[in-house]
Amino acid sequence: MDQIIVTGNGPLSGQIPIAGAKNACLTLMPATLLSDEPLTLTNAPRLSDIRTMTTLLQSLGAEVQALQDGQVLAMSSHDLTSTRADYDIVRKMRASILVLGPLLARFGHAEVSLPGGCAIGARPVDLHLKAFEAMGAELDLRDGYVHAKAPAGGLKGGIVEFPFVSVGATENALMAATLAKGTTVLKNAAREPEIVDLAECLRRMGAQIEGEGTSEITIQGVDRLGGATHRVVTDRIELGTYMLAPAICGGEVECLGGKIDLLAAFCEKLDAAGVSVEETPNGLKVARKNGRVSAVDVTTEPFPGFPTDLQAQMMALLCTAEGTSVLEEKIFENRFMHAPELVRMGAKIDVHGGTAKVTGVNRLRGAPVMATDLRASVSLILAGLAAEGETIVSRVYHLDRGYEHVVRKLSGVGAKIERVSGQ
Ligand code: EPZ
Repeated sequence: MDQIIVTGNGPLSGQIPIAGAKNACLTLMPATLLSDEPLTLTNAPRLSDIRTMTTLLQSLGAEVQALQDGQVLAMSSHDLTSTRADYDIVRKMRASILVLGPLLARFGHAEVSLPGGCAIGARPVDLHLKAFEAMGAELDLRDGYVHAKAPAGGLKGGIVEFPFVSVGATENALMAATLAKGTTVLKNAAREPEIVDLAECLRRMGAQIEGEGTSEITIQGVDRLGGATHRVVTDRIELGTYMLAPAICGGEVECLGGKIDLLAAFCEKLDAAGVSVEETPNGLKVARKNGRVSAVDVTTEPFPGFPTDLQAQMMALLCTAEGTSVLEEKIFENRFMHAPELVRMGAKIDVHGGTAKVTGVNRLRGAPVMATDLRASVSLILAGLAAEGETIVSRVYHLDRGYEHVVRKLSGVGAKIERVSGQ
């Protein structure tokens, strides 16, 4: 397995291009299943998760062509051959569950393997299933699959009250509701920019949607959806990740395509920690205001709160801050696996349940560490940028799921980083 070797190399300088959002693309791609006309996505990120979703859609008979080095995905679901998403694909990526809503809405039935848990938590899909039941679907869970069936006349509009915010359940319900008969209201819906991006794409396909970006979304079902071409929104998590690079090791970096409104809560925390963020015509320019950042407390929340997908990366920064920070992880039950790896680099972190207390140290020290999940892997690279000596990150396949060309992007601003093929 490949490894990434990072050597602390002082301040960074230059520009980093930010790609299209993985978590928008992973819900925009299944939207092709809602229509028999072509759906083309531009600004798509080149990631292994996107290739996994491509394989899943192709297993259903959809056509998916990756053009322009993977930045354009030309898709068509005109001639689907199956409505069954097999375990051997679904187990690789839980976002596969997002084919269930579109298949159920367009064909009236679907069998989708339950995704199973992952490193950061059990990650059930009960809210997805409750939403489909509210639209009249019958769901039967057996042999590890969800067997879903719509009423004879197709899904019916309904009221879906989410007991707590779920990004994926909101996306699945939103897609299904576009073809349900009548009106569907999603209450306590997720407000993430990726939801807004999905709604904008569905509207281009002919869907009637109001309220995306707020906690109540209303959808008037239509008989069919057409094709569209849609540009994937900028990846706010990749953006936040690279904004932390100059914050942790000094210098100034411009993240191309970045917008503050994608990450307002995160930018507020950076400001409080002593990191300046300036909007430029091309993106966001980030620099540390003085020699060392200050400790800040962080609690992860659904959008517009501080994103859970940036918690690990922020922890890496706070390991080097002046003072003690408290990080509370409120979204997932096991999302501190990067902490023991950071401790190997000399960080002082006490984890109790969903709370991590980080006492900043002057300098981290390079060490061999292991990536445990997608965002943890990149937090170790950030720590390595600021550490004294060499950090060797193993199991970097986690990284390939969500970050394209990390070595190229970081070495482009002066980082000493290379990827070596594993034994
Ligand atoms: C999406 O996951 C993202 N993934 C995650 O990003 C992100 O961390 C998460 O939203 C929260 O923002 C994609 O978009 C592909 P949820 P999702 O449903 O939809 C529980 C990354 O690093 N829950 O909002 O699965 C769940 O276990 C990934 O890019 C239920 O209990 O997240 C979690 O504790 C990681 N039942 C909480 O809700 C359900 O039916 C929030 O999950 C659904 C969720």
